Amino acid sequence: MQYENDRYTIGGIDVRDICREFGTPLYVYDAAYIAGQVARFKAAFAGVPAWIKYACKACSNLAIIQLMRKLGTGLDTVSPAEIKLGLAAGFKPDEIVFTPNCVDFTEIEQAVETGTVINIESISSLEKFARKFGGTVPICIRLNPNISTQVNADKVDWWHNQSKFGISRSQLDTVKALEAAYDLKINGVHIHSSSVIMSPDIFTEGARTVFDIAAGFKHLEFVDFGGGLKVDVGDGNPVIDLPALGQTLENLYSDFCDQVGHRVEIWFEPGRFLVGNAGTLFAECTVIKKNEAVDFVGVNTGFNHLIRPMFYDAYHEIVNVSNPAGPAHTYTVVGNLCEIDNLGQGRQLSEVREKDLIAIKSAGAYGYAMASSYNSRPRPAEVLVMDGQAHLIRKRETYADMIQNMVPLDL
Ligand code: LLP
Repeated sequence: MQYENDRYTIGGIDVRDICREFGTPLYVYDAAYIAGQVARFKAAFAGVPAWIKYACKACSNLAIIQLMRKLGTGLDTVSPAEIKLGLAAGFKPDEIVFTPNCVDFTEIEQAVETGTVINIESISSLEKFARKFGGTVPICIRLNPNISTQVNADKVDWWHNQSKFGISRSQLDTVKALEAAYDLKINGVHIHSSSVIMSPDIFTEGARTVFDIAAGFKHLEFVDFGGGLKVDVGDGNPVIDLPALGQTLENLYSDFCDQVGHRVEIWFEPGRFLVGNAGTLFAECTVIKKNEAVDFVGVNTGFNHLIRPMFYDAYHEIVNVSNPAGPAHTYTVVGNLCEIDNLGQGRQLSEVREKDLIAIKSAGAYGYAMASSYNSRPRPAEVLVMDGQAHLIRKRETYADMIQNMVPLDL
């Protein structure tokens, strides 16, 4: 979303017009921004054979997945339905990676049948896989490198040795034993942490570790660094310098290829980096409420539509679209659910009046994707602005949608 000539626009369209047409609450995404992020990513990693596998859990609308395909990415999926979405968007099975966590083995079997790249992340699944498929189907191994990322956020720091993700580095002997016993074709090694790529030093340590381990697999074709690239959300926290990261990787990569003896592809699975700042959640101010200590802006959305502020203490910049030149006041912006439902506390906004249009920024990743109909409030519609036009890409949920799977009793 841009602010130009006293108004907020997305792809050149005044956001008030979009919200008038489709109503609020409304998720709006900017296709040009997404294309720019794909281009930025490709430019930063131009020195290595890097491939993007868009982590569609971040925003799994079919139209967004179609757009990614048009932009030349692959797809990272975590469930059978995400694989189906990828296929529906036109991805070829081998452009899709299946990276599930703690799933029933039948899901992995289904993915094998579909022909996606398979990522195995527990010894238990690896044993089952080895017994069933042996070396007939290549696999990627998801590792936990057991490195502390020094990011104090338990919900997103996954490389440490108490994380549920990946096969621990200390279990590599078991992996090797299974590889030898069943002639497994391990062609990829994967690591991911949603917070690790904050610091180039930690990334370098992780990359060195994973390259060292990966070099020991004779069928190696790719190393997958997962996602976790931060974006600037306006909270003043440092953001990774992507070209510097690309350079770091390029330097390590040539030694790695010498060690392996052939070129190995480098994969990334960015979600937030591609779509986070592409999306805005628009809401209307329903109530202005003052008590002795706080001025509240009540809006017609809440953590049912954007859970990140309450769940992760995540910062989302909030602006008053209707009164950009108004005097600044400090407000706490709250949702309309019947429990504590803060979207932003103690924020400076230009004076808010009831009915004003409020924009909650950086909501493209893990926004709609984590939304619910809690309090029996329908989920918002979604709109994609592309080539100067606002396209409805998901209808607003209705009462009928919400009750369609309920089975009333005959009392
Ligand atoms: N690859 C794997 C294996 C993942 O588990 C994830 C995210 C990604 C890639 C993409 O990560 P990204 O580039 O978007 O950081 N709901 C949380 C984030 C959870 C991330 C889950 N896995 C949030 O709202 O911040």
